[in-house]
Amino acid sequence: MSHTPFIMDHPLIQHKISLLRDKNTGSKEFRELISEVAMLMCYEATRDLPLKDVEIETPIGMAKTKVISGRKLAFVPILRAGIGMVDGVLKLVPAAKVGHIGMYRDPETLKPVDYYCKLPVDVSEREVIVIDPMLATGGSAVDAIGAIKDKGVKNIKFMCVIAAPEGLKALSEAHPDVQIYCAALDEKLNEHGYIVPGLGDAGDRIFGTK
Ligand code: PRP
Ligand code: URA
Repeated sequence: MSHTPFIMDHPLIQHKISLLRDKNTGSKEFRELISEVAMLMCYEATRDLPLKDVEIETPIGMAKTKVISGRKLAFVPILRAGIGMVDGVLKLVPAAKVGHIGMYRDPETLKPVDYYCKLPVDVSEREVIVIDPMLATGGSAVDAIGAIKDKGVKNIKFMCVIAAPEGLKALSEAHPDVQIYCAALDEKLNEHGYIVPGLGDAGDRIFGTK
């Protein structure tokens, strides 16, 4: 059974996405905004983390309270643009491990080409949240998640800032068990595989390479 994509429409997220879309937003501000949006999205994507009861001694007395139990997390950014989301999510879950998957889209075929994969040694015991600002054709996310499943990971989520309908469809068909979180669902892809209206090339805008 496929999960319904979760579209985060919190006003703070929507406001920051408007700034990200603006072609006049420079790399420094763009990087800060991507990180802030990732942090806000992570808050929602970790909503179902299991809790356990604990007793804590406050300066006044004993409190029956809760802490996150057991399940360990790993974040896996898809290089390059996913790197822009890492510090934001680590602000909320500083103890998480971080793996990396390197992929770029061939500009002619729009198919992903993988060039790097380094995951935590105990990744199969972790819940993994794959992060990438853009879900366009979905090819990169489908292959990255396939590579993570090949390492024995059972519990995977995918978090992107902007998704195209084509990418959402491809990803939910290829990996129906993966819950997708995005902050905006745009109209379509153009003939070059860019999301319309989107925000342009996320990697180039984060790293200032164009
Ligand atoms: C972008 C983006 C995704 C991919 C999405 O990366 O960060 O990884 O495109 O497109 P898809 O859904 O059609 O696969 P890009 O290939 O531009 O590489 P970069 O991050 O290194 O610039
Ligand atoms: N990758 C990007 O960075 N932007 C798009 O619109 C599509 C793919």
